[in-house]
Amino acid sequence: MTHARQHPTQVVAHRGASEDAPEHTLAAYRKAIEDGADALECDVRLTADGHLVCVHDRRVNRTSNGRGAVSALELSDLAALDFGSWKNRTPFGGRTEEPDWEHRPEDREATSVLTLERLLELVSDSGRRVELAIETKHPTRWAGQVEERLLLLLKRFGLDAPAAAEESPVRVMSFSARSLHRVRAASPTLPTVYLTQFVSPRLRDGRLPSGVRIAGPSLRIVRSHPAYIERLKASGHQVHVWTVNDPRDVDLCVDLGVDAIITNRPRAVLEQLGR
Ligand code: G3P
Ligand code: CA
Repeated sequence: MTHARQHPTQVVAHRGASEDAPEHTLAAYRKAIEDGADALECDVRLTADGHLVCVHDRRVNRTSNGRGAVSALELSDLAALDFGSWKNRTPFGGRTEEPDWEHRPEDREATSVLTLERLLELVSDSGRRVELAIETKHPTRWAGQVEERLLLLLKRFGLDAPAAAEESPVRVMSFSARSLHRVRAASPTLPTVYLTQFVSPRLRDGRLPSGVRIAGPSLRIVRSHPAYIERLKASGHQVHVWTVNDPRDVDLCVDLGVDAIITNRPRAVLEQLGR
């Protein structure tokens, strides 16, 4: 069944334009904004000294030249690391022959650790509406404090209590229903997205945790259970799918009436959608 959407499918840059530039860096988010992405996705973790930083993994080993858990490091430790030079490395340690991203060490900020505060500044200086889909990563030793810090930071930018969820430029996503519950308890109009990797029997009828209006199923779910997506839509939920990079999957999402496509290749998806 093909579903019509009232609004154009939103294109969300997953970890920034992360196919082209190193994920979760200013370089990747600048590129996503240049590319015309409607929204930026980022994962947030809390450092040992209470700063929210945009890092996917529990440890910094994969995406920087350092080692250790984000939650055990201070912001000054992370600021000393380079989060860019791993990109385009071959598994054998050399460079790929034609790197699609140029690491310019003189632009230090582009590949430094990115704080959520700096990302919020980038978005507010962008000169157009760019939405933010912020994912709280769990489990973490700072459960509870992540949400508290997040809401305090959003408050500083006037983004913590939108008048209506539909108007909010920020949404909070998580695989943890408890994390979303904490956010909703403190800020009931801030939209929340419940991320799922598999369809559990509890969710099969298309219901989400109480108060959550947006479903965030994996692409694997969309491919294997399109009827589940239809049930979610029929129940009035928005559906935001991750991580959609192949043009055939973009078509599938559009056919199913998916509301937001979360992709590492925002420019390519926008072009495919005729934008
Ligand atoms: O946008 C949701 C998606 O990012 C969840 O998976 O592992 O990429 O954070 P992950
Ligand atoms: Ca994520």
